[in-house]
This record gives sequence, C-alpha cells and structure tokens, in this order.
Amino acid sequence: MKKKWWQEAVGYEIYIRSFQDTNGDGIGDIQGIISRLPYLQALGVDMLWVTPFYQSPYDDMGYDISDYESVAPEFGTMADFEQLVQSAHQAGIKIVIDMVLNHTSDEHPWFIASKSSKDNPKADWYCWDDGKDGQPPNNWISAFEGSAWTYVPEREQYYLHQFSRKQPDLNWRNEEVVKEIFSMLSFWLDKGVDGLRLDVINSLLEDVELRDNYFIATGELVDYENTSDEIAFNPDIVQDNTRNHPDTFAMIRRMCKEVFEKYGDVFTVGECWPCTPAVADEIVGENGLSVAFNFDYHLLGKMEVANFKEIIRKWEASLEWRHTGSWNCYYLSNHDMPRQVSRFGSESERIESAKMLAAFLLTAPGTIFLYQGEELGMTDVRFPNIKGYQDIQCVNLYKRLVESGKPEAEAFAEIQKMSRDNARTPMQWDSSKHAGFTTGKPWLDVNNNYQELNVALAEAEEDSVLAAYKSLIKLRKQYKTLVYGSYEELFPEHEQLLIVQRKDEVATLITIINLTGEIANLPELPFKLADAKNLYPKESVVKSIIPPFAAYVMEL
Ligand code: NOJ
Repeated sequence: MKKKWWQEAVGYEIYIRSFQDTNGDGIGDIQGIISRLPYLQALGVDMLWVTPFYQSPYDDMGYDISDYESVAPEFGTMADFEQLVQSAHQAGIKIVIDMVLNHTSDEHPWFIASKSSKDNPKADWYCWDDGKDGQPPNNWISAFEGSAWTYVPEREQYYLHQFSRKQPDLNWRNEEVVKEIFSMLSFWLDKGVDGLRLDVINSLLEDVELRDNYFIATGELVDYENTSDEIAFNPDIVQDNTRNHPDTFAMIRRMCKEVFEKYGDVFTVGECWPCTPAVADEIVGENGLSVAFNFDYHLLGKMEVANFKEIIRKWEASLEWRHTGSWNCYYLSNHDMPRQVSRFGSESERIESAKMLAAFLLTAPGTIFLYQGEELGMTDVRFPNIKGYQDIQCVNLYKRLVESGKPEAEAFAEIQKMSRDNARTPMQWDSSKHAGFTTGKPWLDVNNNYQELNVALAEAEEDSVLAAYKSLIKLRKQYKTLVYGSYEELFPEHEQLLIVQRKDEVATLITIINLTGEIANLPELPFKLADAKNLYPKESVVKSIIPPFAAYVMEL
C-alpha cells in the first residue's frame, strides 16, 4: 500500500467551545484556535479535528446543525475559518472538520418544511412513519431519551431521531438529500480542508421495513430499558436494524467515490457505534474511509489490564489491514468520555499515570488522536450540583433516574462519573481567572484544579506531562517503526505490564509499560537489557524493577 500522510499523523481534537475564547463571550472561537497554533506546533501535532462550529441551537452542543454552510457567530466568521485553514497550513498543520450527516437540527429549514405537511417539497427528506396502533413503529431507541420516534400532530406521523428529539434523522434513501449533502461536502473541501470526521457514520440508513431490533438467538425483541449496552449493542447478539445496515456501507463507498476521491488524499475518519473489526472492514479500506473510530477504549470504564491489552491486540491481529489498504486509529479520550487519567490512571498519581497513558498511545501503531488537555493530564470535574452540568445526555439521564425513584444523591453520583462535561471544561492555559480561557464568564465552569494544572506551569517544568507528550511525539516522528512496524506482544498474560516488540526493516523497538499503580517485576526478556539503547524516558530500567505507571521505549 502506498503510504498516506495521515497514517503517521498525530491528530488533536479541539472542542472549540472550550479551547480558547478571544472575544470575551465565554465561548471558544476560531480566532482562539489561530492564536494557539504556535502552542500546537510546539506540541508536534499534525492535524486538528475541530468540532462543529456551524449554526446550531446547541441542543447537543453543535451536533445539531441548522445550517451546514455557515459559521455560527459565537465562533467567528467564514473569513476566520478561511484564515484558520491558511494559518494552520503555514504552520504545517492540517484541518479536519466535523460533519454530522445522520441528522440535522429540528430547527434546520429542511426539517421545518418537512414537518409542516405530508406533501411539501421536503416532505420526504426525513424518516417519517405512521406508527402502529397509536405507538411508534418499532423498538428503536434514542441515545439520549427513550424511543427514537417523536409524534408530530401536523403530519399525524412519527419522525426518527437516533439522538435527541431535536436531532431528526435525514432520509438517506432520498436522492435529493444525497445530492444536497454531497454538494455541501464539496463546499468545505473546496475551502481547502484536509479531512473530515464523520459523526455516527454507520447510522445513515435503516431497515426499509422498520423491523424491530431483536436478539439473534431467540428472536425476542430487545428491551433497551433492561438490557446493558454491552449486550444491546453487540452485533453478534442483537440484530440491529438501525446501525451498520448494508445500505449504509454502500452509501459510504458512494460518498468516497463521488466526493472524497476527487480531492486526492483527503483524510476521513468515520465514527462507528457499535464497531467491530468486521464493521470497520466494511467502512475502511481501498474504496472506503481512511480510518474508523471504534468505541472499545471508550467502553472500558477503568483500567482492566487484560482487557486494555486485548483491545489493541484484537485490532492489530484481526484485520488484513495492511493488504487491503485499511488502517487503524487509536485514541483514549474525546469530548464524549470522561478524562483518561481519571478513568485509566490515577488522580492521586496524576503525572505518572498521565505520562504512562501518553506512552501507550504514542507508541501504538496507526493514526493517533489526542484530545485537548490530555497533554496536560487534565482530570474529571466535580461540579457540586446538577446545575453545573450542561451535557444533554447526563442531564436527561439524571432526570430519568430521579423520576424512576433513585435517591437524588445516588443519581447525581452516577452522572458525575459519566458526564461528557468531564472532558468539556475549558482548556487550562494559565493560573489567571478562568484559567486564561476567557475574560468573560465561561459557558461551562473551569475545573477548579487549574491553578496547579495548566499550560503555563507545564511549559516551565522539565518533567511535566506536556514535556512527555512532546518527547514521545518527537520519538514517533523519528522512529516510523512505531507507526508502521509489526506489533508483537511479549508476555501477553502479564498482569501488569504491556511489553511489545515493534519491528520493521529500519529498527526493532521494545516498549515496556506498567499499566498499574504498583511496582512490577520484569520477566526475563529474550535480550539483555544492557544491550538495549534507551530512547524514552531519560532514565533506563533499573534491575528489572518497573515502578508504578512507568513506561520505557528502547531500541535493540
Ligand atoms: C457523536 C458525537 O461525538 C456526540 O457528541 C454527539 O452527541 C452524537 N454523535 C450525536 O451527533
């Protein structure tokens, strides 16, 4: 396979609302990103994934678009966006924009027209159905609130929304919708963007007959209220007629052929939920997207060493990637999940565990994505009460739990842990008021640990988490073996250590990572430690003892 620029890229997700505000309205903006390009350049990242900045009522923080070809005023202007593309390119950084194609906002003019009657020109642009006996047509559920169907009296029909009721699903079986969206994608690609992150891309088309989702083994319908997500969304267990439909796979290939291929090496990453290697195989490869975001690390709530190691082993082993032109992609954090240090590391040993996670990710094969603030070791936030939270998913869940009789304190503890706001608190730039994020009132409060955890402090310290990220990114650029080399785990059964050999024609590298907060003993390696050249960190392994959360990269 011919190498592509994005295979060795280290991406960085910018949650625009929370990155850097420049006009004092408490909301991050495009000029804020431009002002921080030198920081991102010094960090060493190659591409920025910028979360939605289009017009939107912000029911789901911009993943509910009401005008695809616009820049919302709180983020700036189209001229600002064009300046961002140009300035980023000058700094050697590519721009990847976030595209939400499964649904629009219910405030999009298309939906306003569509819902007005059964015979308007946009009547068939969304997924409408009469329902059955005064009930929704099937048992499909919304990710945020009960049934995926909402009734509209004007049409005496239900519309489909796999997310909130303010996010109606577009009807991808309508050619006019397909053409409109394809032309909109070209609008942005013509502006010089280098790639797209495609939101829930494996959900585009559903079963034409709107059949229920059921258990494959018994034919019984899935009762989503009483079935855990691990089971309900496991494609080997449940026949899911909403996600991963063969027509969706065909539509993605069509999109690649009719839009993306015309733009050469454009990078496309499809968010896929749920995603198995078989699903990724349908979506990624010669005629498909560049990579897929799977949810495996997302679903792992805490550090379970065996499972943590198994995920990467599975993805590396199961795909004929390198032959079919497919490629893997790894990340540990994004705007939808709690902070990685709080989940997989330890808040009390924040610095050590953040560095360990950095070493894991930045020595993994494939394309890598970091999430803003992870390079500082930012942690989850704990707002004192539900009023502090804005994430629709956690606010809705809290209401549901309390309504179902759960004591408020228990419901609150549950949502505090899973809230997406954990990752969405403003970036911590310095020790000044609101962490240097804004001169106004931030849209979401800053985590109150900002005075000891911020960029300015990290830049001044030689041993900071930030310094570790910089060194590891540099090492990854220097040793492409970390990107392209074979992946062979040594001692796969080890209960604390991840020991991996990476090899290509240029080098043989060994990584040793203690995934736990306890000292680990290094088993006898098939080479002498003394013969290995230490690449990271400065100190090498001493007497086969691996301290808690320590990580090493060496060359044989
Ligand atoms: C995935 C996005 O990352 C998430 O933030 C959003 O709520 C859903 N897709 C719906 O668009």
